[in-house]
Amino acid sequence: MLRLEVIHERHRRAYLEAAKEFFDQPEPDADFFYELAHDDFTEVVRRYHNRARGIDLPPAYAQEYKYLLMDGDVVVGRGGIRPEPNDEHMRSHGHIGYVIRPSCRNRGYGTAALTHLLRRSAELGIREPIIVCKPDNHASLNIIKKMGGAFLDTVTLPDGSTRTRYHMPESKP
Ligand SMILES: CC(C)(COP(=O)(O)OP(=O)(O)OC[C@H]1O[C@@H](n2cnc3c(N)ncnc32)[C@H](O)[C@@H]1OP(=O)(O)O)[C@@H](O)C(=O)NCCC(=O)NCCS
Repeated sequence: MLRLEVIHERHRRAYLEAAKEFFDQPEPDADFFYELAHDDFTEVVRRYHNRARGIDLPPAYAQEYKYLLMDGDVVVGRGGIRPEPNDEHMRSHGHIGYVIRPSCRNRGYGTAALTHLLRRSAELGIREPIIVCKPDNHASLNIIKKMGGAFLDTVTLPDGSTRTRYHMPESKP
């Protein structure tokens, strides 16, 4: 069963196993923390915690509570909740993001991840979470629609690419 955990030194081995999949086959939607983990896992932990506190944010980043998605001792992916994205973040990333490691896809983890992250975002006081998706990300769109997401709009980013945005129904905390 899936659960959210805040990253800790004890996750080092499991995290590196998940990171290896992205390191071997980089994906645009997987963040660079997976690459950094091979050189300095302690630094990864520090940056996750700083993101959650809104400290040392790179210019294009919003404060974000980041979680490992765990099934037993296995890191199946990671998720994040941005409680107060500015307008730019709201167009490009929205309130919630998540990635499932390639070897764990198509087994229901993505759907379970969004269910947990919506519940946690309600606990954080986010009433109308917005999820942003690339228009050709069919797996993600499938999950959003299955979970009752309502189309909000399509936006164009500064690099000319487009994103579709969905309002998710309010979860019970
Ligand atoms: C999107 C993502 C999280 C889905 O994770 P997952 O664990 O495979 O998701 P699930 O197994 O819960 O469900 C995926 C659903 O999409 C369907 N699906 C998978 N690939 C698909 C595709 N190429 N086209 C259409 N549907 C697809 C599956 O059949 C499943 O539908 P079902 O529940 O009706 O059977 C995963 O592909 C991923 O990490 N992608 C990269 C990061 C990303 O896109 N994150 C979302 C950002 S908004």
